[in-house]
Formats: sequence, structure tokens, C-alpha cells
Amino acid sequence: MRGHYIALEGIEGTGKSTVAERLAEYLRGSGRTAIIVREPGGTPAGEGIRDVLLHGEHMEPWTEALLFAAQRAQLAAEVIRPALAAGTWVISDRTVYSSLAYQGGGRGLGVEMVRAVNAAGLCGTWPDLVVLLELDPLIGLSRQAVADRIGAEGVEFQQRVAETFSTLAGIEPEVFRRLPADRTLDEVVAAVIDVVEERW
Ligand code: TYD
Repeated sequence: MRGHYIALEGIEGTGKSTVAERLAEYLRGSGRTAIIVREPGGTPAGEGIRDVLLHGEHMEPWTEALLFAAQRAQLAAEVIRPALAAGTWVISDRTVYSSLAYQGGGRGLGVEMVRAVNAAGLCGTWPDLVVLLELDPLIGLSRQAVADRIGAEGVEFQQRVAETFSTLAGIEPEVFRRLPADRTLDEVVAAVIDVVEERW
């Protein structure tokens, strides 16, 4: 049986990475095979692109959007499709929906244009479930330990990103589940596990 592709999404500071680890532990503990991938990155080429994306100087918005789409095409082909074909659960710390929210909404490139360039590279490999962890951008920014180039954009940028995530959740209610992240990590993890168990 094909595996399931779960996206953890949200603005900075929502605890996605820790939630991903705890969800994978839970799935493995209940006898399922699960891997975690992260975007940008997850492949040798993708980690190189991550470095360029997060630590460079100014970058044109479309350069940024296309580099995110490029690392994602590689990750889908090299890691995600083979894993799903082998029946593995794939938990992704960010996915194409981050590009729709950050580049489409935050940078103002437009969700539909960003969706189109990503669709070209993804060849049909889209998440089955998107868990959107929601948090006030001011709280999210205050939780950030070290800001990368994109994380260092101001609160107005983060607000546009959060609003775009929220709009996307409204457009695709069959894929999205929204969860508040302004509570303890244990509570967030328990809520995410409930959503996953309810979905499958
Ligand atoms: P990430 O490593 O997840 O950092 P964080 O732990 O701060 O969430 O992502 C790095 C940054 O890249 C983050 O600011 C979000 C941004 N990003 C985009 O702008 N578009 C994308 O498509 C992705 C995957 C990430």
C-alpha cells in the first residue's frame, strides 16, 4: 500500500520540527514506517540550494521562488516518491504550501503563479494532509532563536504569510486541518496525532 504524505506548516516559531519528530516516534511506535524530511533541503542538491536561499544576500523574489521549487522537485523525485511507493509515511517539515504562503503571499508573487511553477516540478506529488499550526506572528517571531534571511523579514511579512496560509486552508478544506499552536508542545503533539489518526 502507498504511504501517506503529511505536511507540517505554519509561520516561524510554531514548533514544526519538534512536532515532526514526535509524530514520527508515535507512528513508529505503532508499527508504521515513517521518515521525516525538511524543506528546503533533504537531498544533497537540496541542501546546497538551502544554503544559497537562507544565507545569501538580497535575492530577487522569483529567484527565491524558483530555487524553492527546484529543491522540492529533487526531494520529490529522490526521496518522497520512492518512500511513498514503499508504503512509508513521509512527514515533511514544510512543503509546497510554504512557497504558496511565503513567496505567493509574503513576497506578493501570487499564489496561483507559484502553484503553477511548483506543479511542474512536483509531477503530482502533493501532500495528502496539511496540518497548519497557527500562531500570532508576534509570538512566533519572539520564539525564533536565530533568524535566517527569510525569517528576518519583519512582522508585516509574517502577517501576510499567516493570512495566506489561512486563505489556503479555506480554499482546500479537504486537505487542511488547522490547529492552534499557542499551547504546550505536548498539547500540540497530541492534537496532531488525533488529526492523523482521524484522517486514516
Ligand atoms: P525552516 O528551515 O523551516 O526554518 P524555520 O525553522 O524558521 O521554520 O525554513 C527556512 C525559511 O524558509 C523559513 O523562513 C521559511 C522559508 N521558506 C519559504 O520562504 N518558502 C518555502 O517554500 C519554504 C519551504 C521555506
